[in-house]
Amino acid sequence: MPILADAWFIHAATNGKHSGPAELVRGEMEIDDLQPNEVLLAPLFGSWEGNMTHAIDRDPIDICEARGYERCVIGNSGVARIVELGADVTDLKEGQVVLMGAMDTDAWGYPKKLMAYDMPVQGLMRTRMKLRSDQVLPLPENTRHDLTRWAAFNVRYPTAWDNWRIAHGTFRLLINEEEFPRMNVWAWGGGTALAEAHLATLLGHSGVAIASTPERKELIESMGVKAVDRTNFPALQFDERRYKTDEEYAAAYRDSETAFLATVAELTGGLGVQVFVDLIGEPVFRATLKALGRQGIVATAGWKVGMRMKFLRAVECIARHQFIHTHFAPLSEARKAIAFAEENEWLPIIDERIYDFDEIPELAANYAAGKYRMFPVYRINGE
Ligand SMILES: NC(=O)c1ccc[n+]([C@@H]2O[C@H](COP(=O)([O-])OP(=O)(O)OC[C@H]3O[C@@H](n4cnc5c(N)ncnc54)[C@H](OP(=O)(O)O)[C@@H]3O)[C@@H](O)[C@H]2O)c1
Repeated sequence: MPILADAWFIHAATNGKHSGPAELVRGEMEIDDLQPNEVLLAPLFGSWEGNMTHAIDRDPIDICEARGYERCVIGNSGVARIVELGADVTDLKEGQVVLMGAMDTDAWGYPKKLMAYDMPVQGLMRTRMKLRSDQVLPLPENTRHDLTRWAAFNVRYPTAWDNWRIAHGTFRLLINEEEFPRMNVWAWGGGTALAEAHLATLLGHSGVAIASTPERKELIESMGVKAVDRTNFPALQFDERRYKTDEEYAAAYRDSETAFLATVAELTGGLGVQVFVDLIGEPVFRATLKALGRQGIVATAGWKVGMRMKFLRAVECIARHQFIHTHFAPLSEARKAIAFAEENEWLPIIDERIYDFDEIPELAANYAAGKYRMFPVYRINGE
C-alpha cells in the first residue's frame, strides 16, 4: 500500500525564473516505501519562518528550479511523532516525539545543507513524511513543555545555542569569569537573536534584544530580557552610497547612531557590548561595531538584510574585536540545546493564534505582511 500525505506545495515557475511569488497549492503526495534505516513521521506542528517566505517569493533562490522539482513542500522547523520504524531502527520508538535534524554534514559534523531549504529533502507541511533515523532528534520523554513551543524551537534555538557556544568561548579566551563575570549580550533581529539573548540571560548575563513593536517588546521582557525600542533610532539603516551622496540622509543617520550609542553606553555602564548577536547585516553592522566594548564579539548566523560587510582592519584589530560565524548546529550540540531547554524552560513563547492546516495560506500572507509577533505556529496532525 502506498503511503499518502495531504500536503501544501509550491510549484515551479512556468514562465522562467522571475515569474513572481509562488502560490501554496494543496494536493496529495505519494511517499516511497519505508526503508530499513528510515522512520515514518506524522508532523504535528510547524513553525513559520523567514526561509519559507523566501521560498514562496522565489528569492534569493527558486527552490523548485534549483532542485529541478515540478513541485515541492517547504517547512523545516517543527515537531513530529514517529508512526512506524524501518526494520533496522533500534534506537527509536513508535510514538516518540522528535524534532527534525535533517541536514547534509561535512566530515566535521557541521551542516552544509538543511532540509527543505538547500537540501533535496521535502519539508514538513504535509501529514506524513519520512526521514533517516539519524535525521531526527528525540525530545525528552514526557517533556513538560508544550509541543507547539518545541515546534518553534527546532531551527532557531539550536542555531542560537551553537552560536553562543563559540561567541562565549571566544570571549572567555580574552577575559576570564573572575575578571568580568557578567557580559552585556545584545541582539538585533527576530527569533534566533532573541533566543541567544534569552540563553545569555538564563546563564546570568545581561541580555538585551532590540525590536520595533510593542507586542515584541512585551514578549522580550516577559522572557526576562531587556527590550530596546528600535523606533528610537529611526534612521539607523546604514547605506554607504547614500551616506556619501545624500547629506540629509547622512545627518539623520548620524543622529540615530549617536542616540543608539548613547543608549548602549547608558545600559552597559559605559563598557559597551561584549557579545552583539547581529543576524541583520549591512544596515546595522556599522553601529554594531561601534557598540562593542574592547574585545567585544560580533556573533552571526544570518544576513536578513545584507551579506556583505566592510570594516577597517586596523580599527578592529586594535579593539581586539572578534567575528563569529556559524550555521545551525552539529547534531551533538542540538541535543545539548534540547536538554538545556527542557531543564531551564529555554523555549520560545509562541504567538497566540495557532493556524490550522487549512489556514496555512492565510498564515503565509500574514507573515509576508508582518502580521505576526515572533513565533507563529501551524497545526498539521497536532491536537
Ligand atoms: N544559519 C542558520 O542556521 C540560521 C538559522 C536561523 C535563522 N537564520 C537567519 O537569521 C536571520 C534572522 O532570522 P530569524 O528567523 O531569527 O528572524 P525573524 O524572526 O525573521 O525576524 C527578523 C526581525 O529583524 C528585525 N529587522 C528587520 N529588518 C531590520 C533592520 N533593517 N534593522 C534592524 N532590525 C531589523 C525585525 O524586527 P523588529 O522590526 O521588531 O526590530 C524582524 O522581525 C535570517 O536571515 C535567517 O535566515 C539562519
